Amino acid sequence: MRVFRTVAEVRSWRRQLAGDLGLVPTMGYLHEGHLSLVRAARAADAHVAVSIFVNPTQFAPGEDLARYPRDEARDLALLEAERVDAVFAPSVAEMYPPGFSTWVEVEGLTARLEGASRPTHFRGVTTVVAKLLDIVQPRRAYFGQKDAQQLAVVRRMVRDLDIDAEIIGLPIVREADGLALSSRNVYLAGDDRRAALVLSRALALARRMSDGGVREAKAIRAEMEALIRAEPRASVDYVSVADPDTLVELETIDRPALVSLAVRIGGTRLIDNTILGAE
Ligand code: PAF
Repeated sequence: MRVFRTVAEVRSWRRQLAGDLGLVPTMGYLHEGHLSLVRAARAADAHVAVSIFVNPTQFAPGEDLARYPRDEARDLALLEAERVDAVFAPSVAEMYPPGFSTWVEVEGLTARLEGASRPTHFRGVTTVVAKLLDIVQPRRAYFGQKDAQQLAVVRRMVRDLDIDAEIIGLPIVREADGLALSSRNVYLAGDDRRAALVLSRALALARRMSDGGVREAKAIRAEMEALIRAEPRASVDYVSVADPDTLVELETIDRPALVSLAVRIGGTRLIDNTILGAE
């Protein structure tokens, strides 16, 4: 497995490859969710590249950039075991050289949900993903459904900018008790780990209501919020029942609906989601 630190190294490796390349963009501290993306790429593409880059521009001041978990040696060992061909792990200066001043911004979609709470977040995500797609030139790029809005925003960017890569979204991977895998779960100690189950329980409640015939999105949001409020360690940032592509809130569930939520458990902000009616 090759490990590249510079854009020039990746480009020169890429130029001599024949066959499709799959890219899995990550911020490292890999878990089974990331590895499920790598395995999907391994199955579909002749070559697999993974990027590891904790992208500072998608963190606002006061967010967890400084303490974001990192363990490159462990990540590389996991990727080697998955027979990944190349890892691109650049420095911040390599990705954002002095004088960097060009941004990629998807309007509208990014103002909602995560974007309402984290107004500069998606500009950082789309800028770095556009750069990675341009540097690595993959046929396919793989993202987790866990960040459902990120997936929708990246799909829109690729469509709008005619970027020649297929964006593949893959299901959330969960712990046995329902907690969605996230590198940030490492922040959950003691009672916070137990309290974090309120997210998947709220989503299960939404699914039960929908399966039971409830079509009024407002009723589902209200019941989910009530369930979360009953957990003293949790505070709701948002609960949403929206169209999966436009992220516009639904009144009636008469088509597939993205049910998503962001909840603070102690000092940790967690997100999770499920799609109703997609089967
Ligand atoms: O989902 C992530 O880990 C990041 O947002 C991504 C897509 C790697 C961009 O930094």
